[in-house]
Amino acid sequence: MKQNYFLQFFMVLLIVSCQSNPEIRFESVVSEEYRPVYHFTPESGWMNDPNGLIYVDGEYHLFYQHYPDSTVWGPMHWGHAVSTDLVNWESLPIALYPDSLGYIFSGSAVLDTENSSGLGKKGSPPMIAVFTYHDAELANTTSDIFQNQAIAFSLDKGRTWEKYTGNPVVPNPGIRDFRDPKVSQITNTDGSKTWIMTLAVLDHINFYSSTDLKNWTLLSEFGKNQGAHGGVWECPDLLPFKTPSGEEKWVLLVSINPGGPQNGSATQYFIGDFENGQFTPDDTMIRWLDYGPDNYAGVTWNNLPAEQTRTLFIGWMSNWLYANVVPTKVWRSAMTVPRELSLFDVDGTLLLKSAPATELKKLRSEEYEMNQETSALPSEAVEIISDLTSDSFSITFSNELGETLILSKENGLISVDRRNSGKNGFNRDFAAIHSAPMSWEAKDIRIFLDASSIELFVNDGELVITSILFPSSPWKSVAFSEHLNSLKIYNLKK
Ligand code: FRU
Repeated sequence: MKQNYFLQFFMVLLIVSCQSNPEIRFESVVSEEYRPVYHFTPESGWMNDPNGLIYVDGEYHLFYQHYPDSTVWGPMHWGHAVSTDLVNWESLPIALYPDSLGYIFSGSAVLDTENSSGLGKKGSPPMIAVFTYHDAELANTTSDIFQNQAIAFSLDKGRTWEKYTGNPVVPNPGIRDFRDPKVSQITNTDGSKTWIMTLAVLDHINFYSSTDLKNWTLLSEFGKNQGAHGGVWECPDLLPFKTPSGEEKWVLLVSINPGGPQNGSATQYFIGDFENGQFTPDDTMIRWLDYGPDNYAGVTWNNLPAEQTRTLFIGWMSNWLYANVVPTKVWRSAMTVPRELSLFDVDGTLLLKSAPATELKKLRSEEYEMNQETSALPSEAVEIISDLTSDSFSITFSNELGETLILSKENGLISVDRRNSGKNGFNRDFAAIHSAPMSWEAKDIRIFLDASSIELFVNDGELVITSILFPSSPWKSVAFSEHLNSLKIYNLKK
């Protein structure tokens, strides 16, 4: 009998605590105004594109476009950080400095396991960074040949780098926009391996091949009459995937600035075949990786171990429309959360999905069940998940100043409305509502909120909207329509 009383007492306690979450009280976890809690930011100075993403010996390397001396864009370096779990990042000293050949623009990194370049030592395969030299002085003249591809190598896991003395390895043929090499290795039918460089060239992509990373042969061009062309093509990536039915397909990511679906910069992608050094798209449809305004120049990690059967992506969480003037003081710009890319099928059309990386679940601490009456947020850094009972929904975040951030699906349009989300006078395009067509059913949502951003994943990333925002005071409460079911909020901590 006694035991039964105890059991009943604990059952009542459990029900009460699940239903009403009496303890949710906002507690700030932000160290400095607008500094994200779990998104990567440089300690200080300017950051744009992710570069040289590579996994080596248990470390995810994140290099990035960096200007340490200012919070506005300037002479580019490669900043460097590493992580063993994709959520905690350790900042390391700058990897590549500009020199007499130019600024160090975007590019990629590979592990030259067989020492095909001869730049490593026996038993110590070199990491090779492939980047664009941008000669800023020459760029100010009438010359067209100021961007050239070059390599550097590291024999100590990316801590120190030496530039190759034979640079450039792909000299400019006379085109002003000629940059952002993404190199990866493909295995040929006879088992041999070839390095492939995917390069953005003004309004198209050039593919090159090499056996030693130093000598490159032009294979083909793609894209002059394909896809979106509202701006210059930048930061490409070429990736193999399996379709849901098990077929092999190649995806070509191409960032474009301006000309994105929300104005300014954005990333489009093509699905097709890559055979004999040539990319052939399946159709002429224009597809966007993320319908938000703030996911640009994203690329994927090279050299993931075979057991990681995933394609891991990160993007720069800003937009060239206003990246230089957003109201942060010590640093400028953050990366998106890392995402896992895969193909899915909507009524016979293949699309690319971006799901939050599995590791993000590690950030979850307290969990709260929400109901219509409970609306407090525990901190600036939260994850919200919910099933949807209908194909439409709305969620409104607000603070005590009357500022709001509204997410919704209505009439087949998913929207993030940041018109009244706080500071926005720094650029006339910033205060806007960003919508995306979603013709198929929305079943669930997952939201990552941080001090100055929101990432909305519908159906685990079948549609994504990434948006930065600068509320004058943190979001303290959330209100939601009755179409959200089993809504949970996780407080996120490092
Ligand atoms: C894309 C980009 C690249 C270039 C880099 C310069 O955001 O314009 O094309 O390499 O930024 O920082």
